[in-house]
Amino acid sequence: MLKGKNILLGISGGIAAYKMADVASMLVKQNADVHVVMTRSACKFISPETFEVLTKNKVYVDVFDKPVDDPTAVPHIALGTGADCILIGPATADIIGKLANGIADDMLSTVVLPARCPILVAPSMNVYMFENPIVQDNIEKLRRFGYKIIEPSTGHLACGYDGKGKLPSPEKLVENVMLYAARNKDYAGKKVLVDAGPTQEAIDPVRFITNHSSGKMGYSIARIAAMRGAEVTLVSGPVNLDTPEGVKRIDVVSAQDMYAAMVKEAEDSDIIIMSAAVADYRPLEVAENKIKKSGNEDMTSIALTRTSDILKTLGQSKRDGQIIVGFSMETENLIENSRKKLESKNADMICANSLKTEGAGYQVDTNIVTMITKEDMESLPIMSKLEVADKIFDKIKKL
Ligand code: CTP
Repeated sequence: MLKGKNILLGISGGIAAYKMADVASMLVKQNADVHVVMTRSACKFISPETFEVLTKNKVYVDVFDKPVDDPTAVPHIALGTGADCILIGPATADIIGKLANGIADDMLSTVVLPARCPILVAPSMNVYMFENPIVQDNIEKLRRFGYKIIEPSTGHLACGYDGKGKLPSPEKLVENVMLYAARNKDYAGKKVLVDAGPTQEAIDPVRFITNHSSGKMGYSIARIAAMRGAEVTLVSGPVNLDTPEGVKRIDVVSAQDMYAAMVKEAEDSDIIIMSAAVADYRPLEVAENKIKKSGNEDMTSIALTRTSDILKTLGQSKRDGQIIVGFSMETENLIENSRKKLESKNADMICANSLKTEGAGYQVDTNIVTMITKEDMESLPIMSKLEVADKIFDKIKKL
C-alpha cells in the first residue's frame, strides 16, 4: 500500500530506537522507499548500518553527510522536501524542544524544517520528563503548527518507572504512516459509517447470546476509509480490537443499541457499510437476576423475539446519493441468497462471503468476497481483510 512512497524516519536517542528497525522493515515490505536520519545519541542505541541494510539507503547522522557518489548533493534539504511523510520516533524531549523552537543544529532537526509533508512525532521518554510542563508546552506548540503527535503508551518504562512514555508498537507507528501517506485521499469530504463485530443479547445478568464475529472485517473497512481521507464513524459490538487511527468509535452491546446508534449516525452519512453480525433474535425477556438451576428443572427453552433489521431500515429510508453496502454471510447458496438480500434490503451492494470456504469469514485475517451490485458481480480472490476493504472502496467509486 505504500508502493513508491518516500518515508523519512527520524530517530533520536531513546532506548526504544531498536523498535524502529521493525518499523523500517515493515515499511520496506510495503514497497516504500525508506530513508533514515539519526541523531548522534540514537547511534548509541542502534547502529546506522542496521537501517542501511534494511532500507538499502544511506543513513544520515551529520548535517554535512553526503551521498558517496554525489559531492554536490544537499541532503539536509532534499531528504525533507522529498518525503511523503516523516515519522520521528522515539522523539526525545531534546528533539521535541528543537522542533518546537526552530533549532536546526544537527541533521534530524534540520531536515524537518524545509519539509512540506505530514510530520508525525512519537514522543518516548521517562514519565516525569513527559509530564514536565515545558515538554508538554513544546508538544502543544508542535500540535498547533500541524504536527501529528502519536501519544506514547503506558506501561513499565526502561528507566524503571511505570507510566506514560513508551514508544507505541511498530504496528501502530506503521499504521499512522499509512494513515498519513499511504493513499490518495480520494474519500476526503465523505462521511463513512461502518458497523462491525457481534452483538450480545442478554438472557440474564450472567449469560448472553452472541456469534463468532471478530469485527476484523469492519475494522479493516473503517481503517481503509480513514486512510483514504474519509471522516469515519465505527459502531462496534464487543470486540477485542484497537480503534483504527483517526476513526470515531461508538461502542454498543446489543442489536437494539446498534440499531439506535446506526439510525442516529446514518442521517448525515454519505456511505454506510454494514459488516456487523447482528443478532436476528433476542430473548423476549431479560431476567433481572441470575436464572438458577434449582426451581427451574424444566427450563428447556428461551423465548426469543426478532430484532430490528438495521440494514433494511436504513435501506428503506435511503436518501438521494447515499450508498449502502451490506454483507452477507452464508453457508449455502451464497450468490443466490446474497442477491435476494440486495433486493430485499434495498442495498447498493452486497459483499457475499461463505463461512464454509477456508480463508473466509469470522476470526481470520483474510476473506474471499464476491461484490454483488444490481449491474454486475465481481469475485475477489483470497486476500487480507485490509485489501478486501480497499477493493470495496474502489468499487463504491464506480457505483
Ligand atoms: N443485518 C442488520 N440487522 C440485522 C441483521 C442483519 O443490519 N438485524 C445486516 C448485516 O449487518 C449484513 C446484512 O444485514 O450487512 C446481512 O446479514 P446476514 O446475517 O447475512 O443476513 P440476514 O439478513 O440476517 O438473513 P439470514 O440470517 O436469514 O441469512
